[in-house]
Amino acid sequence: MKRQLSSNLLKWYDSEKISLPWRNSANAYHIFLSEVMLQQTQVNTVIPYFQRWIQAFPTIKDVAQAPLDHILKQWEGLGYYSRARNFHKSCQIICEKFSGEIPNNIEAISSLPGIGPYSAAAVMSIAFHHPLPAVDANVLRIVSRLHLLSAPVSTLTGKVASLLSEIIPKNRAGDFNQAMMDLGRVICTNRNPKCDICPLNICCKAYAKNLTHAFPKKNAKPLKPVYKIAVGVIWRDGDILISRRKEEGLLGGLWEFPGGKLLPGETAENCIVREVQEELGVVVQTTEFIKQIKHSYTHFSIIMDAYHCKYISGEPRCYQCSDWRWIEPEDISMLPFPKANHKLFQHAFAKEELC
Ligand code: ADE
Repeated sequence: MKRQLSSNLLKWYDSEKISLPWRNSANAYHIFLSEVMLQQTQVNTVIPYFQRWIQAFPTIKDVAQAPLDHILKQWEGLGYYSRARNFHKSCQIICEKFSGEIPNNIEAISSLPGIGPYSAAAVMSIAFHHPLPAVDANVLRIVSRLHLLSAPVSTLTGKVASLLSEIIPKNRAGDFNQAMMDLGRVICTNRNPKCDICPLNICCKAYAKNLTHAFPKKNAKPLKPVYKIAVGVIWRDGDILISRRKEEGLLGGLWEFPGGKLLPGETAENCIVREVQEELGVVVQTTEFIKQIKHSYTHFSIIMDAYHCKYISGEPRCYQCSDWRWIEPEDISMLPFPKANHKLFQHAFAKEELC
């Protein structure tokens, strides 16, 4: 049965395999990059980013030597920016410690920033054929159905890794892992799995008992918080003041319009004046409401009120940011900004002549 499972899976992969740019490459840098981009992100979203990235940075050394702004600009819109910062640092470490070559060694790859057990196993198996199962949410779903594993899915990673270690073929470990990823994406989907055409249906206990809908067992989902935020487009002689978020934390290293979270009972206008003073030591006055922007990030949502502001006084300083700049509005697209700020650009600068 075990042998049949991997041989059916690989036969299916050989005929149905999706063509992806990193799959045509034996270059370990491409494979490493693709796995980092694919963390939490759909394949179709990643493809154009991946292609632009390898044009912009053909080698690991090009990544290592690039300024962080260039790295974040290439990543802009892909989300989870800590992945980009960690990838940048990883490439620098690879250049310093491993002569610019991805190490063919699980301990070394696991020690790189942002590389967890899933990505390490994926890179080692695809680039270097180590027989290590890569266990992500798709794989947890497939195996929980195959074996009717009834513990909550978040507790199953170790069990699933050990079940797969028994069957992952030594000669085609990378293909086995990628076949599981494809199967989870196109056949063994969360809703309406296509069991009748699944290459593993004869080995699947959930299919035999007509129980696929009941597996995997879900974890309790925390509610997504909504933050009220206010930001200022601060004008001085036709330039606008932007600040840069600290590297650590959410959206770290990205540029933004200065502002922050409203305190209980505070108006958006008062919040902007207070936040700009605290963040940059600058005094501003709000002049005109621009727009309310709603945006949902993965773990929280924001409702952001934006105002045009007049610069009054004070030389900007980095009290609660990592950098600041006066820029001309037309230069804004050169720097990486979070998505919610992008939604504001067209509204903010349509009114430029009024300020
Ligand atoms: N998701 C994560 N890694 C992947 C890969 N190598 N191919 C397709 N989907 C993936």
